[in-house]
Amino acid sequence: MPGRIGILTGGGDCPGLNAVIRAVARRSLDRAYEVVGVREGWRGMVDGLFQPLDYRTISGLLPRGGTIIGTSRTNPFKTEGAVGRVLEAAESERFTALVAIGGEDTLGVAARLHGEHAFPVVGVPKTIDNDLSGTDYTFGFDTAVSVATEAIDRLHTTAESHNRVMVVEVMGRHTGWIAVMSGLAGGADAILIPEQPITVEAACEELRRRHERGKDFSIVVVSEGYELTYESGGKRTVTQEAGTDQFGHVRLGGVGEALARDIEERTGYETRVTVLGHVQRGGSPTPRDRVLATRFGLKAADLVHEGRFGRMAALHGDAVVDVSLEEATRELKTVPPEWYDTARAFFG
Ligand code: F6P
Repeated sequence: MPGRIGILTGGGDCPGLNAVIRAVARRSLDRAYEVVGVREGWRGMVDGLFQPLDYRTISGLLPRGGTIIGTSRTNPFKTEGAVGRVLEAAESERFTALVAIGGEDTLGVAARLHGEHAFPVVGVPKTIDNDLSGTDYTFGFDTAVSVATEAIDRLHTTAESHNRVMVVEVMGRHTGWIAVMSGLAGGADAILIPEQPITVEAACEELRRRHERGKDFSIVVVSEGYELTYESGGKRTVTQEAGTDQFGHVRLGGVGEALARDIEERTGYETRVTVLGHVQRGGSPTPRDRVLATRFGLKAADLVHEGRFGRMAALHGDAVVDVSLEEATRELKTVPPEWYDTARAFFG
């Protein structure tokens, strides 16, 4: 028996997680490893929640959304004694390696465990937000963009029929990847993202310009992390509640409603808002995400087999490569100005 591998999924659920689990498990079982699912992310390592994964359990997973082993936003570095329990669990479960599938938070924990405790871990980059450094794309992003684009296409119907401005709020946390890509694909007339905070007045001006050209409806895409920015220099972040999670994140959401009120007040155009929320994370992954997740999963299994811990599977161009976990979690990958400029060519 070459060893025993634990697999965990942490952070928000994401289309393609099950496809990664299937690929890691399939390749590792074929190599005669034992494979164990760690339930509910890092919480499973802290509280000892495990589930064996065999050929039968991983059958039918490729198109399935969510994660069959559950997830959580548990940060063992935030609870007294929890890191010790993670290390003990790895011992008692006889894990020779752990595959952590997650975004900056889950993989940040993996990087620290590896750096501070020589923990045998490899990472797989997951997030609909696409904000993880070290990889061109994360799996889940393509599905989120497809859902948002379809929503924008559908909202055009009402916008056009009622001569309205339709504001669409998309996820993405502190980066505007989903907003820019879905806005570009859906033909948005203005896109507001955290990285390029154009003012509310400037966005209204784009809409007026468009109406003057005879188009009496508009689509505005706003990223949940956009800070309402005004010509006066004033700024306002809209959040759902005070306080943060164990990784220090506020719960975003609601900026669309505030922006819609501002637009209606300033332009006089009838405005409605749609918040896409978790719909963007739900359901079956797109073919592109299924393929990416599968390639990442196989790479992670290979990294484990080669004993190359502290690494993360990554996409560079069309090639699946590996990068250091520490490097990948050092800073967020924001939307480059060129991408925003491309979208901007169609504003107004
Ligand atoms: O990171 C993925 C994400 O969907 C973000 O886009 C969003 O801000 C956050 O998770 C929502 O988290 P929760 O599911 O905990 O509400």
